[in-house]
Amino acid sequence: MPEGASMTVAGRRVLVTGAAGRIGNVTTAHLAERGALVTALCQPGQSVDGADRVVHGDTRSEDDVAQALADVELVVHLAALAHRDAGTPYAVYTTNVVSTFNVLVQAAQRGVRCAVVAGSINRYGLPQGVDQDARPPYMPLDTDIPSDVSDWYSLSKLNDENTSRMVWRRWGTDVVTLRFPHVNSAEGLEAQSAQFTRNPRLGLTEAWSYLDVRDAARAIRLGLESGARGANAFYLAAPTTNIPYRTEEVLDALAPDVPRRERFVEREVPIDLGDAERLIGFHAEHEMQLETRDLPAGLR
Ligand SMILES: NC(=O)c1ccc[n+]([C@@H]2O[C@H](COP(=O)([O-])OP(=O)(O)OC[C@H]3O[C@@H](n4cnc5c(N)ncnc54)[C@H](O)[C@@H]3O)[C@@H](O)[C@H]2O)c1
Repeated sequence: MPEGASMTVAGRRVLVTGAAGRIGNVTTAHLAERGALVTALCQPGQSVDGADRVVHGDTRSEDDVAQALADVELVVHLAALAHRDAGTPYAVYTTNVVSTFNVLVQAAQRGVRCAVVAGSINRYGLPQGVDQDARPPYMPLDTDIPSDVSDWYSLSKLNDENTSRMVWRRWGTDVVTLRFPHVNSAEGLEAQSAQFTRNPRLGLTEAWSYLDVRDAARAIRLGLESGARGANAFYLAAPTTNIPYRTEEVLDALAPDVPRRERFVEREVPIDLGDAERLIGFHAEHEMQLETRDLPAGLR
């Protein structure tokens, strides 16, 4: 069971930043279906279904964010340059850390009690890092996994977790940071699955994890409704991997030296999902239907 007193989003005004993006679009519609009044903060020219108020602006701007926060009780902060290569290192890092600082600090100063922030599996540094042969220090990836960051996107997501903690320490605003794995529509997930099935090495540092965008939207709502106290950051994912091979077999072949802290059953994802369950009551509802098969000899 999640800790703290729970409530629902129905009838509450929620600011969603990055509302026109992949996760933001589905989240805005999901929150509106649950009765939330959504203020969508989008970039000029963007549109989103389900919002009853749309503010066009920039999450780095103090004025735009102040305008978007009018009457807001809860915040979902998704706006970011969502990949290392989505801009120059300067643009990616500064957009992400300034936006998160600006949104969370102004929200807290205005009395917002709870925010959910899009973190990333990348906060531990390896998936978009400089060393293609890097291996996780242990499996499963868990809340406490050490970071070894060598790119500016991962650094921005790691720093965002510090910003969230600062905001909670100073103003007492509860912040849930969801360290998303690859999030996509069912079709988008299938494309990545096909690529990793051909070459499982490509998905090792992401632990072959994924999350359907509908589950991401639901996790965001659960984060708002959980009553989880403090600044919490944790992994979440579908319970199985996006490759058809048994997890133990693929780890034996590709990462035999990585210590395993548990034995994985069939295609169990090597990510600790315990905090997602304990803190916000999250379990994924959408899983890829892959038939388990032996790892081909050529991939061992
Ligand atoms: N999709 C994934 O696989 C994934 C995985 C891990 C983390 N995340 C994180 O989840 C969040 C949402 O990701 P997404 O996949 O929906 O990405 P996306 O690129 O589809 O959406 C991001 C949105 O943020 C907006 N944005 C960017 N800079 C802005 C600015 N300065 N002012 C206002 N809006 C701005 C963009 O216009 C876009 O609509 C991001 O923080 C991303 O880092 C995504």
